[in-house]
Formats: sequence, structure tokens, C-alpha cells
Amino acid sequence: MYDFNATYQTYLSEFERYMGQYLQRFQTTPAVLAESMKYSLLNGGKRIRPTLMLAVAEILDVSKEDVLPFALALEMVHTYSLIHDDLPAMDNDDFRRGKPSNHKVYGEANAILAGDALLNEAYGVCFQACLQGEKFVAAAKFLADCAGARGMIAGQSADLYYTGGNLPTGEWELSYIHEHKTGKLLLAPTVIPSILADNKHYLRLEQFGLFLGSLFQITDDILDVTGEFESLGKSIGKDAEENKLTYVKIYGLEGAQAKADEYAKSCIIALEGIDADTSFLKDLVDYVRNRKH
Ligand code: IPE
Ligand code: IPE
Ligand code: MG
Ligand code: MG
Ligand code: MG
Repeated sequence: MYDFNATYQTYLSEFERYMGQYLQRFQTTPAVLAESMKYSLLNGGKRIRPTLMLAVAEILDVSKEDVLPFALALEMVHTYSLIHDDLPAMDNDDFRRGKPSNHKVYGEANAILAGDALLNEAYGVCFQACLQGEKFVAAAKFLADCAGARGMIAGQSADLYYTGGNLPTGEWELSYIHEHKTGKLLLAPTVIPSILADNKHYLRLEQFGLFLGSLFQITDDILDVTGEFESLGKSIGKDAEENKLTYVKIYGLEGAQAKADEYAKSCIIALEGIDADTSFLKDLVDYVRNRKH
């Protein structure tokens, strides 16, 4: 019988097995580079992006083998984004996933390089997958767009631009930041399997990914206020301290909770019309809405 936690665990194990095989052969000179990359990659994140990608692939009858390289590349991009996000020049966070941030262990310069190397490795993995044909090239291109100067990095840039509260800001700026810095890397796992399935359910999955991405960042903003270090694994209260533009700042805590509920509903509506069992995706929406870490 279907069980959400067990299913999540199955996808997670499949992904971690694949990543483990990849990393087993991965070495660098000097060794500290590979060590610092693995420190962050293996540091126990939720792996929601690869899990989501495997789940959508299953719904669309795309094989695990086809989608796993993109799941790995995406998790590498995500991990690099976190290493750089935590740097003193960005959010200056000392903890990530309950452990000292990459730069706290390896120093700032090594942390920058670990991030750079993860990003390049991610594209190396994508190029290998591209040998299988055009659809794979389109999928890799989509990932690059989601990660790049009009994707996640644009969101990070906007996040910094509007930090400090000196500029006029409102709903548009807030949505732009969320849809890019976080939304794009949650859009990739819903759209890439669709590209590999000849664009099956593309629009519905695109909508779903967009809404889920915003929901994910709204709950991240909420947890920065209501969370606990022990479960969250990162410092609390940083957004207010740095005067970041967040949902809580604009709408207050209750307003942000209401927005999260709205986005959660929109996610479920986006799934209507998909002629397959979407129970896991629906439960994933609840999981993101109610998460404590
Ligand atoms: C944290 O992402 C950064 C945001 C986009 C909010 P996750 O909450 O997915 O981080 P891990 O990978 O589980 O640590
Ligand atoms: C991070 O947003 C988004 C990316 C790393 C791309 P936040 O700065 O809010 O994430 P946390 O709270 O540090 O995990
Ligand atoms: Mg940040
Ligand atoms: Mg941060
Ligand atoms: Mg945050």
C-alpha cells in the first residue's frame, strides 16, 4: 500500500545510490577540493529536488536511468548555490544542515572553489547524458536556464539588490526573488521529466513546479521566524537581521501563512487533468507546506 514517507525514502535511496557511485570515482588534486565538495554534497539535505524529479519521471513513464543524471546535476547546482549563499559576502551563515557551513570548515576561498567545481561537474554530467539524443540536450538546456543568469542566479542577485530595505518594494519584487532564487530549481525537476517524455503534461507540470517553488520559499521565510535551529539546521532570524525582502516582512507571519495555503491549493489544482496517480505529488505539497526543516 502507498505510504508517503516510504515512497520518499525509496526515491531518496535510489538517488543517493546513484550519487554514491558517481562520487566513489571522483577525486581531485589537491584532494581538499573533492573533500570540500563532498562535505556539502553528502551533508544530509532533504534532496527534495531529485526526489521530485524521480517522482514526476515515474508518473510520465520516464526511466530512472534517463532522469538520474539530471537529478544529480540539479543537486550539485543546488548544493553549490547553498555554499555560495552562506558566504560572508552573501548571507554570512555559519551553519547549514546542522553542521558548520562549507567556508567555516574549508575557508572562504576553498568554499568558492567547491561551489565553482560543483557547478562545472553538474554540466559535465549533463553533457554525458546529452550523448543520448536531442531530448536530453533540451533537458540539459532547461537546467542551465533554470540555474543561470535568468534563473536562480538572477533571483540571488535580486535578493541582494533588495536587501537592506532602501528601495521601494512590493509584491512584484517579492515574487520575482522567490520565483527565481528558489522557484527555478524546483521547476527543473517537474519540467525535465516532461521534456524527456516528449513534453507530456508540460503546462500542468510547469504550473505545478512554479507554485511549489514559491510555496517552498514562503515556508523557508516562515521557518526563518518560527523554526528551531535543532530541526532546521541553520540559523534563525537571519532574514530580519539582514533586512531581507521576505513574505513575512511584507505580509506578516499570518499573512505569509495564508499565502502559503493559497500556493498549496494552486499546486493541487495544477495537477488536475494528469491521467496518472499523483498522490505522491499531492502529499509532497502538504509536506512542503507543513515542513519543520
Ligand atoms: C534551502 O533549500 C535553500 C532554499 C532554496 C530555501 P533546501 O531546504 O532544499 O535545503 P536542503 O538541501 O534540504 O538542505
Ligand atoms: C537561498 O535562499 C536560495 C538559494 C540558495 C539559491 P535563502 O538564503 O533564504 O536560503 P537559506 O535560508 O539560507 O537556506
Ligand atoms: Mg540567500
Ligand atoms: Mg541564505
Ligand atoms: Mg531562507
